[in-house]
Amino acid sequence: MASDSTQRGVTLWFTGLSGAGKTTISDAVEAELRSRGVKMERLDGDIVRENLTKGLGFSKEDRDTNIRRIGFVAHLLTRNGVIVLVSAISPYRAIREEVAATIGDFVEVYVNAPLSVCEDRDVKGLYKRARAGEIKQFTGIDDPYEAPLNPGIECRTDLETLEESTQKVLDKLKALGCID
Ligand code: PPS
Ligand code: MG
Repeated sequence: MASDSTQRGVTLWFTGLSGAGKTTISDAVEAELRSRGVKMERLDGDIVRENLTKGLGFSKEDRDTNIRRIGFVAHLLTRNGVIVLVSAISPYRAIREEVAATIGDFVEVYVNAPLSVCEDRDVKGLYKRARAGEIKQFTGIDDPYEAPLNPGIECRTDLETLEESTQKVLDKLKALGCID
């Protein structure tokens, strides 16, 4: 049993396009972990950008700063035995690798759905606005997304159910000894 004193920390870093399902899968994993009484924390791009990284935009420099700050907090939590769920587009491979190396106990979760699917979903209406030129530097439209080369987990959210994706993540946590 992973009691408070023995729980092993890890950062699960959900990366992927806007609308791919990073927040949705993280919500489901959070619910499962909370029901087990596991120590966990969330760092979601949309939330973090309202406080820790408030004022940053979407240039490469600002995105890198955003990711480094998130990574810094994730590291502090992870080394104190917390399971950290980060959900941020984190489009640049080099920064993800930098953060992974710093944190050590790190699993990259590639939340993968084709751009066309994310655009069809357009949950927040942002793709429509990006196509209309109202939002600049939108990931996948006029800004890059560098897909993971060797993710620890890949969730194909266009092909698998939310339950299947969630289970993949929980299975990994179990394999790592972070949960029972
Ligand atoms: S990043 O690249 O990791 O720093 O981005 P992140 O902190 O995850 O923020 C992404 C969310 O911001 C909204 N949004 C944009 N995304 C991408 N490109 C542009 N230009 C942009 N402008 C606003 C959007 O709601 C993203 O949330 P998700 O959950 O990914 O859809
Ligand atoms: Mg989100």
